[in-house]
Amino acid sequence: MDITINGSRYDLEVDARTTLLDALREHLDLTGTKKGCDHGQCGACTVQLGERRVLSCLTLLASVREPVTTIEGLSPDDGVLHPVQQAFIDQDAFQCGYCTPGQVMAAVGCLEEGHADSDDEIREYMSGNLCRCAAYPRIVAAVRQARDAAMRDSD
Ligand code: FES
Ligand code: FES
Repeated sequence: MDITINGSRYDLEVDARTTLLDALREHLDLTGTKKGCDHGQCGACTVQLGERRVLSCLTLLASVREPVTTIEGLSPDDGVLHPVQQAFIDQDAFQCGYCTPGQVMAAVGCLEEGHADSDDEIREYMSGNLCRCAAYPRIVAAVRQARDAAMRDSD
């Protein structure tokens, strides 16, 4: 199966039942994307598929037709972090960090979808991403910071 991930093309020979999450973690060593529940309940496995955020544990590799972006491919190669990554650091929006890659990818999607106008809206559109450490207030603050930075950049 041909697939483009973070700008690189891969040809994978895997079982037809392989999920995108297992392809990333088990076959491509892209372990930044986390497996939490493996049942679509926690958001830890969130990646971008084309312009959309998806749960990679519920996405069959064989169904993937668009380029995939994972947490490893979010920032450019020059070492500068994506604004959402930087906001999570600035706002100290994690504790153990296990949910963080999924939170960051979901936040990127939330912002690109235009669903970050208020804290309530951020909470609603980030509600599919659970955090066992309950870092939710700081995660909302990080999304807010990234939103405000994007608005300043567009002025
Ligand atoms: Fe995919 Fe939990 S691992 S939603
Ligand atoms: Fe620990 Fe979210 S930071 S689960």
